[in-house]
Amino acid sequence: MITTSSLERRSRHPRGRLERTLIDAETLRARVLELGAEIAADYEERDIVLLCLLKGGIYFTADLSRAIDLPMTVEFVRARSYAGTESSGDVVLSWIDGLEIAGRDVLIVEDIVDTGLTLIEIWKALEEKGAASLAICALLYKEKRLAHSFPVRYIGFAIEDVFVVGYGLDYDERFRNLPHIAVFQPDESARGPSRQGRSPLNPP
Ligand code: IMP
Repeated sequence: MITTSSLERRSRHPRGRLERTLIDAETLRARVLELGAEIAADYEERDIVLLCLLKGGIYFTADLSRAIDLPMTVEFVRARSYAGTESSGDVVLSWIDGLEIAGRDVLIVEDIVDTGLTLIEIWKALEEKGAASLAICALLYKEKRLAHSFPVRYIGFAIEDVFVVGYGLDYDERFRNLPHIAVFQPDESARGPSRQGRSPLNPP
């Protein structure tokens, strides 16, 4: 079983360390099952599109899709924000070819809502593609950091304003394979520019 300390021992990061477990694997599992049941009840017999935001949403989508007892297709979109040292820059979306959205009920599956900017861009794009209905399911939600207010229908956990990794979430592509959510503590002495401007080393 991978734990915060076992992964930390083998996968040290030069700019910080895993500090503590925030949500353990069992709690995640139970909440994902609850969300799946809620979604299945809300959508009744509809045939939905579960739209996974890559890469962070892969683990959550994999588990959530198996907890929703409905016919569905699972689709993917890659969202990246290039913003220097700020998280409020342009969001670039890469759609996987063949995505059929027109007239479909789309549930966007996001790992974490931080400023909300990514969701705004995806929502706009899906409206343009003619989705019949749109809703968002986010595993984690940082209420305090939300700069762009947005209706998130399903929320796994509201969390404090900390940088988290695990269960799909990364820091510099590391730690996605932790089975739980852990707090990543930056090393203050290693301050510097970092990927996508969303690093805890460069808070907006
Ligand atoms: P937003 O557009 O500011 O809401 O950012 C959402 C995206 O930023 C998420 O899909 C994540 O990829 C990333 N992100 C935001 N906060 C964290 C965090 O605490 N850990 C890892 N990734 C994060």
